[in-house]
Amino acid sequence: MGRTSSLFERYLDRTRRRIDRALDARLPSAREEPRPLHAAIRYSVFAGGKRLRPALCLLACESVMGRSAPAIPAFSLIHDDLPGMDDDDWRRGRPSNHVVFGEGMAILAGDALLALAFETLARAPQGKAGDPCALIRIVTEATGTGGMIGGQAMDLALEGKRKVPFRRVLSMHSRKTGMLIRGSLLLGAEIGGATQAIKRRFSDYGARVGLAFQIGDDLLNVRSSRKKIGKAVGSDKARGKATAPGAVGIERAEREAERLLQSALKIAPGLGKRAREFESFTEFLLGRTS
Ligand code: IPE
Ligand code: MG
Ligand code: MG
Repeated sequence: MGRTSSLFERYLDRTRRRIDRALDARLPSAREEPRPLHAAIRYSVFAGGKRLRPALCLLACESVMGRSAPAIPAFSLIHDDLPGMDDDDWRRGRPSNHVVFGEGMAILAGDALLALAFETLARAPQGKAGDPCALIRIVTEATGTGGMIGGQAMDLALEGKRKVPFRRVLSMHSRKTGMLIRGSLLLGAEIGGATQAIKRRFSDYGARVGLAFQIGDDLLNVRSSRKKIGKAVGSDKARGKATAPGAVGIERAEREAERLLQSALKIAPGLGKRAREFESFTEFLLGRTS
């Protein structure tokens, strides 16, 4: 609404096309067999996402070495919408993957994307873009039982529970969303050849903004509109999901997100050459949660 875009949003705009081109080149063509699978993969990858995580990965890499490299992950959201998980029919303003391609194909498309992420990393040129094993370890930690998959399992296990302590919700959120955001930054830092000290900073920063991001997502589910966010609102409550506002109310959830982001803002100046963009990203999230 006439608001001038921030440094981070301008970076996101500049980078989106580059990321999309890299993804297009990396993904199997929709003309290649099995066609419905490749169509399902492309449907979700090119659904108009913000490319937040790949952009954070590139930014971290640039911050460390002044240049950047590519990344993936859209698979988690295909699975998240499945009938066996959130059963959401809308994503990014259009029908979810399983609505268009069927549940089986959506499961396979999500799985294929995860496999493709590992293949891409394993093919990274030796000695140039960071150690492939270290990169694969970052992705396994971010996605495995201590990360996104574990968080999603907690999300299912806590569904319908009446009084979920806030710290349980925060631990679930850190895994299901925080770890993937943190992992995106760590990938970039690793590829850029960051020192241990800088990697630790990215890890701390990523954990904070990632957790705040999911609290913000919970808040949007309570008070935004489907038109604005392109996915169902009110669905968390309808499904009895454990959420931050559900556990402690809207105001305290907002305050917690703000506290995390203020603490992230203190770390941002130490994140290298692109520190200002990271500050701007943190402020962008502050605007999203308040
Ligand atoms: C999804 O969490 C987190 C991931 C594993 C990517 P939500 O279920 O709260 O997210 P939305 O609202 O459907 O995007
Ligand atoms: Mg969901
Ligand atoms: Mg979910």
